[in-house]
Amino acid sequence: MRIGVLTSGGDCPGLNAVIRAIVRKTERVHGGTVVGFRDAWRGVLEDDWEELDIERCRGILPRGGTILGTSRIQPYQFPDGPARVREAMQRQGLDGFVVIGGDGSLGAARDLMAEGIACIGVPKTIDNDISATEMTFGFDTAVHVATSAIDRLHTTAEAHDRVMVVEVMGRNTGHIAVRAGLAGGATLTLIPEVPFQIEEICAALTRRHGGNKFASILVVAEGAQPEDGSMSSVVYDVDRFGHERLGGVGQLLASEIEGRTGLETRVTTLGYIQRGGTPTAFDRVLASRFGVEAADAAAAGDWGKMVALQADRICRVDLEAAVSHPKTVDLEFYEQVVRPFFAC
Ligand code: F6P
Repeated sequence: MRIGVLTSGGDCPGLNAVIRAIVRKTERVHGGTVVGFRDAWRGVLEDDWEELDIERCRGILPRGGTILGTSRIQPYQFPDGPARVREAMQRQGLDGFVVIGGDGSLGAARDLMAEGIACIGVPKTIDNDISATEMTFGFDTAVHVATSAIDRLHTTAEAHDRVMVVEVMGRNTGHIAVRAGLAGGATLTLIPEVPFQIEEICAALTRRHGGNKFASILVVAEGAQPEDGSMSSVVYDVDRFGHERLGGVGQLLASEIEGRTGLETRVTTLGYIQRGGTPTAFDRVLASRFGVEAADAAAAGDWGKMVALQADRICRVDLEAAVSHPKTVDLEFYEQVVRPFFAC
């Protein structure tokens, strides 16, 4: 067995743990070899790769980032992309590719499968917005980082009797905001799935701060939007892959809150610290389990699947089931568990 491995899309803690597990299982149990392609599909398209073996993967388990590098380049951005992928497969004598990526990368893997290019997906994103798996690796670490930051912001907000707005990542879904908001005891948590009403937020904060020394923490996902355009939202720009680079909703909210209520308000945008650094133990274990299962699926010739976590078991689901729609926040959970905490 000889497989290609690539890490694609936004990086996150745990990528190296997946690579390590794939290599160890493939080499040690299946007697196979692994080719690591650099910077995701760019390495495949430009023949930029390295042999990965157990020695090469020693010590990478706890390291953030990816030893292979990553990018948002996809084969379908080029007219001859799929043909060049097929050539790379033949040149390297590969049985197929293990694609470690988010929705965009897994969607490309599904499309390549339809052209006879064997792929297996491993779900990676701090956003945890991939369907058919309860968790993606990287998510637990991002929630841990955000929660630790919120804990620290509580003390400075209390010292100054301030409203502290914390912007977390989450382009289309609010999983990080919801979990970190709950764990960090946020006063309010705003997510892309539920447009917010600035008037409701200001009224709740005014009631809460009425005359007393108080501090409030408002956690907002970068993709959260105001209802009916009651506020403009900021899209930094659109990158060359068509992804909106979001951000700025936290600053907008802070300005609106302070302007409307007179409450001293500050904003902290956590940004990329949610994506960097060493993975939590949970993510190291999940990533390793995913990597082992991906190697086993490749050895069995079970292509066109994504490894997934369901009821604490690792299974394989069709790539189509994983990428057909994003996994959004369960609104019943949001209403039952998160909203009652609003501005208590
Ligand atoms: O998809 C993961 C993610 O971190 C999002 O939460 C965020 O909006 C996006 O990637 C940022 O993308 P980039 O790394 O290309 O700026």
